[in-house]
Amino acid sequence: MSKGNYYITTPIYYPSAKLHIGHTYCTVATDAMARYKRLQGYNVCFLTGTDEHGQKIEDKAKEAGCTPQEYVDNIVLGEGGVLDLWKLMNISNDRFIRTTDDYHVAAIQKIFKKMYENGDIYKGKYTGKYCKPCESFWTESQLVDGKCPDCGREVQDAEEEAYFFRLSKYADRVQDLLENTDFLEPRSRVHEMVNNFIKPGLEDLCVSRTSFSWGVPVDFDEGHVVYVWIDALFNYMTALGFCNDAKEGLEDFWPADVHFVGKEIVRFHAIIWPAMLMSLGLPLPKKVYGHGWLLLDGGKMSKSKGNVVDPYILAQRFGVDALRFFLLRSFPFGSDGNFSNELLISTINTDLANDLGNLVSRTVAMAQKYFGEKLPAQQQVNIEMDKELVEMVCTLRDKYEEQMEKYAFQNALSEVFKVISRANKYIDENAPWVLAKDEANHPRLAKVLYNLLETVRICAGLLSPFMPATTEEIAKRLGGVTMDWDSLEDFGVLPVQAATVAGDALFPRIDMEKELAALEELSKPKSDIEIEPYATEQVDFDTFCKSDFRAVKVKDCQPVKKSDKLLQFTLDDGTGTDRQILSGIAKFYKPEELIGKTLVAITNLPPRKMMGKESCGMLISAVHTEKGEEKLHLLMVDDAIPAGAKLC
Ligand code: MSP
Repeated sequence: MSKGNYYITTPIYYPSAKLHIGHTYCTVATDAMARYKRLQGYNVCFLTGTDEHGQKIEDKAKEAGCTPQEYVDNIVLGEGGVLDLWKLMNISNDRFIRTTDDYHVAAIQKIFKKMYENGDIYKGKYTGKYCKPCESFWTESQLVDGKCPDCGREVQDAEEEAYFFRLSKYADRVQDLLENTDFLEPRSRVHEMVNNFIKPGLEDLCVSRTSFSWGVPVDFDEGHVVYVWIDALFNYMTALGFCNDAKEGLEDFWPADVHFVGKEIVRFHAIIWPAMLMSLGLPLPKKVYGHGWLLLDGGKMSKSKGNVVDPYILAQRFGVDALRFFLLRSFPFGSDGNFSNELLISTINTDLANDLGNLVSRTVAMAQKYFGEKLPAQQQVNIEMDKELVEMVCTLRDKYEEQMEKYAFQNALSEVFKVISRANKYIDENAPWVLAKDEANHPRLAKVLYNLLETVRICAGLLSPFMPATTEEIAKRLGGVTMDWDSLEDFGVLPVQAATVAGDALFPRIDMEKELAALEELSKPKSDIEIEPYATEQVDFDTFCKSDFRAVKVKDCQPVKKSDKLLQFTLDDGTGTDRQILSGIAKFYKPEELIGKTLVAITNLPPRKMMGKESCGMLISAVHTEKGEEKLHLLMVDDAIPAGAKLC
């Protein structure tokens, strides 16, 4: 039975450049929250997407020599783009909206017209200051030292005929909303909004532009496009079917339970957004949470400075779960935090390799060593010595829940890690290796291991919103045990004769010095593409001729279970008997796209076993390195070449 509906959103990202680890922060946090709510039994709708209009995109597309649509398509859908990044980071969004989607564009036109018709949007003349990179208009009084108060860059004079939204009309109601309800959190952001924006006098907002065309056209006044923030903010509702029939869910999911947003865009979400909803008589979201920023050396995040901030590289080197965990474990969500590769490595080593990893591997290894696959049925009852651990584990879920409800991810994780540390200490106190020596102590030993396995189960269950893949692996090692929400406050759910499955270290320890040096190297600017140095040693012609290269046709291609590298090929090599070859290129191709292709194989290598399967030969690939990552391309030749043709 569902506990109810829960709607959570991230800001929709500007696809103006590749995303860095700072962008990943909010999406990972939203994902953890969404997974936590699902774990509790809610019917969750988690929305993310991309905010694709505006002058910045138009300019970038011009620079790149393509249309704005081509430009955004490439950054959103292309290799290593926004969708790929969320897939890599194991983001469980239920919906993805692009503001260039037809249904959204049409909905924005209707929304704009509604506010025009109700008198809250009117035509006037705009003179003011415009910050191009931020796509923000400012009044003279809002500038800081004559510059954009958000990014500190130069602003330009701007004057144009434009539509305005009567924001001033809603100033009192918005102030009341901010000051007298929990609409905006953390509380510190309320003071900032009221003191910096509302009290100095909220002016009407310019909501159309004529100076560029990459936006939603105002359909009743040619030449005007809708201000990108109106277009963007309403995504939260159009994605649920507001003013369109393409989507649905408005009744179930609106008002949103929470919008997670970065601190610099709180102003749009806590002032402009509620005012527009008030204008349309629509329910307001229940909460806006303005999280802090990840900083680099106290400043804005960018490439360089000896730190790698590319989420692809970090995930590849440290693992997706470790990266997700680090982001939410190391910084309080409501405040800024200083990102560094050093902090990332030390967090992984301390919490994941030492504390969690060790607890899981020691516990499972001891259970296996002393009792084989299952614990014995005969176990001692808990004694005084066990009480502290059991008590801590039993109360953990409530403490964790209290923190998660406040979006205090760091504190929720601290609660789990207090228990993990206590469990590691419990191993040392009980010294299972000593108990194991005397058969008479085996019922006690079994109880100690049972308590540890049960502790691991509950901790892993509570970690699942943060590290979904790791939790799944731990569940396997505990014999496929349940980790549903109700079971996470019940000590004793694991069957007495708990089964265990051994496995490799979950988080191998990282050599800090070596890794930092490697990252330093990676962060050095270099050309994107690197090729292997040429071999200097010469090969005589006869030796070369011994290699039998053949054209082969792909009859079938399948992924290899438990391997994220290998693909298994069934090939027609012209002999009439299928040839099987395994090739480590799974990262670069989808198996189905290779079927029917003509490839090149070297066929007279001795057969080799890989993941228990025989590989008879090797497919030839071209290899290069791009931004420090190795890339392989299978050598594909003209399909007119028959299977088995010798290459010489
Ligand atoms: N398109 C707008 C949002 C519209 S929502 C209706 C936008 N896009 S953005 O791509 O510039 O930023 C997306 C989110 O990433 C923002 O919440 C922003 O605060 C966040 N971050 C960007 N850099 C960040 C860090 N270094 N640290 C944490 N979050 C940061 O704004």
